[in-house]
Amino acid sequence: MTAQTSSFALADRLSAVGFSEIVKVRNKILGMRERGESVLQFEGGEPFPNTPDHIKDACIRALAENKTRYAPSSGISPLVEALTEKLNRENGIPADTSDVVVVNGGMQGLFGAFQSVVNAGDDVLMFSPYWTPIRDLICLTRGTPVRIDTAQARREGFRRTIEASLTERSRVLYVNTPQNPTGIVLTRDELEQTAAAAREYNLVVISDEAYEHIVYEEPHVSIASLEGMYERTISCYTFSKSYAMTGWRLGYVVAPEPFATGLRKLTLTSTNGVSTPTQWAGLAAITGPVDFTNWCRDEYRIRRDLLVSGLQSLGFDLEAPAGAFYAFPDARSLGADSWEIANRLLDRAGVACLPGVIFGPEGEGHLRFSYSTSPETIERGIEALRKVL
Ligand SMILES: Cc1ncc(COP(=O)(O)O)c(C=O)c1O
Repeated sequence: MTAQTSSFALADRLSAVGFSEIVKVRNKILGMRERGESVLQFEGGEPFPNTPDHIKDACIRALAENKTRYAPSSGISPLVEALTEKLNRENGIPADTSDVVVVNGGMQGLFGAFQSVVNAGDDVLMFSPYWTPIRDLICLTRGTPVRIDTAQARREGFRRTIEASLTERSRVLYVNTPQNPTGIVLTRDELEQTAAAAREYNLVVISDEAYEHIVYEEPHVSIASLEGMYERTISCYTFSKSYAMTGWRLGYVVAPEPFATGLRKLTLTSTNGVSTPTQWAGLAAITGPVDFTNWCRDEYRIRRDLLVSGLQSLGFDLEAPAGAFYAFPDARSLGADSWEIANRLLDRAGVACLPGVIFGPEGEGHLRFSYSTSPETIERGIEALRKVL
């Protein structure tokens, strides 16, 4: 290879990073729609409502008041103060304002969290099935993802299962509750066991709580609120799901030192902070009425029950998920791999869902359905499936 061609190669660290496989399904749906075919969509990750008016109005007001200049790269003070107060009160996290960093959505927070802790060659433990980008975020650090089967941990105990996956290079443990794609909500006992393993083996925990407000049975527990955990946990949050703000790109991270400094440096040198009017909108979201998140949870519950009972009536094996807005039925009775089953449902019934294997090998044999859609779409989807199954 000549010196000239090698300088035009992509940096090595990007070689293990993929583009989401979800794009393949989206492109197929687009193609079908262009041909005039109707598609009932259950593949997405968007909250079904629009952003509430009081949040949009706060952004418009900020623009009218010329709050359009550089803000502190880690966040405007009123927002950081409101977030700290929320983390103390709602999550039981003993954070100080200097521990909170405002970021461009959950994704930037998770990117910063992994980049702040993982060195090349470190093992990063992660429960699987997992949200697909997590593996890529770990690969970008040149660390090694090490999967822990969530179902096995539930059967055999979290502490034991984590212990069985440890190596000398294990430094970090990624925990996501409520989970995407399974809808599992880790119980207090499961989190206590996870915390005990983290303390004993000196692991840093990256806690992804993107769906903290969407829980149906047990309350959400933040692992950083457990004894001895705050000092070793980086907790990542987003406005995307709680306030239907996916396109605004707003999130926050809370961590003690030295991690807060890592997050600050990465935010400064990547985006230099979140757009100023967006931060004022975020302040309205966090200090506004809680009716919206409560209403969403109740609406998601109606949709969950409709989808789960429909899928059960079609012979799928699944329990009602305890959180987030995804169902993850076992589809092995259909006798094929999950890509083939998902493609079959799309081609024959016009029902789009995601193959479980894109969330890790532990997801194979399953399908992910989002029920963040209208009850009517859910009913039509179940009937369309009934005709072809
Ligand atoms: C588990 C999980 N974490 C984090 C995120 C990041 O969300 P965002 O970057 O939209 O804030 C998502 C989005 O789908 C998610 O499912």
